[in-house]
Amino acid sequence: MIGSLDTTPLTSGNFQFICDLVRRDAAIVIEKGKEYLVETRLAPVAMREGLASVNALVDVIRAVGNGNPGLTSSVIDALTTNETLFFRDLNPFDALRDHLIPKFRAANPATPLSIWSAASSSGQEAYSIAMLLNESFPGQPARILGTDISNHIVKRAVAGRYDQLEVNRGLPAKLLVKYFRQETGGWLLDERIRRQVDFRTMNLAGNWPLLPRFHVVFLRNVMIYFDLETRRRILRKVRDTLIPGGYLVLGSAETTVMVDPGYVPVSVGKATFYQAAAQKT
Ligand SMILES: C[S@@+](CC[C@H](N)C(=O)[O-])C[C@H]1O[C@@H](n2cnc3c(N)ncnc32)[C@H](O)[C@@H]1O
Repeated sequence: MIGSLDTTPLTSGNFQFICDLVRRDAAIVIEKGKEYLVETRLAPVAMREGLASVNALVDVIRAVGNGNPGLTSSVIDALTTNETLFFRDLNPFDALRDHLIPKFRAANPATPLSIWSAASSSGQEAYSIAMLLNESFPGQPARILGTDISNHIVKRAVAGRYDQLEVNRGLPAKLLVKYFRQETGGWLLDERIRRQVDFRTMNLAGNWPLLPRFHVVFLRNVMIYFDLETRRRILRKVRDTLIPGGYLVLGSAETTVMVDPGYVPVSVGKATFYQAAAQKT
């Protein structure tokens, strides 16, 4: 029992149902053997719904089909992995500051920079970019978009509130002091920085809304959850959102190689970025 929850293991039928649901709606692949993960992540949802067990939760979803989209979206929210931190892997941020932004500014000084943090989780990536711009290119017009499939995590990103553990991860003390205000239970990011990022809910594996063209797209640490066909489809669509000469940034364990030949890897400073093959400049 967890609290009043009956922790009988998920039946294989219910586990398979959840795997199929998450794959259909979010393209996330849950491997066999991850029953414990599904049970642990869905236990709080079952408790919130006042249900006796995770099996009972899955039975309800199975019974109502698409009739309760709120519940389905809570399940997807619970099964996404939102691990992130400020200035994650640092090198792409250094390369952005030292090479890419100066290059775009020199080529087209009046054009606002347009940067997309796709799969932005609780906002640390997008806000790292906003702070970097503020620090190194004050007054530089820029539009930063952050998107994620999880409603709950997008709300957290918009709020710009982080606990002590989160601000201890990747954020230089100088920026913490300069851009955050301490409040009960954590830190609130300055409104000036929050205003620079527009967060929206968006499923990378679904139909995309009309998007602007981007100088740089950060698509990091999310493709690892998708199968090859989904990665290929998303990478192709991302290519169409890049301005000519624009750059894609992937996570350190991700690559376009053997997935989408329409990109070429390019070294920029200590980072590897990807450019559309025909548009490489
Ligand atoms: C591990 S976090 C990565 C966050 C950030 N990009 C980073 O590298 O620190 C993965 C994020 O991808 C989001 N995600 C998973 N599937 C998605 C999908 N189909 N469409 C959009 N976002 C998705 C999750 O909600 C989660 O916030």
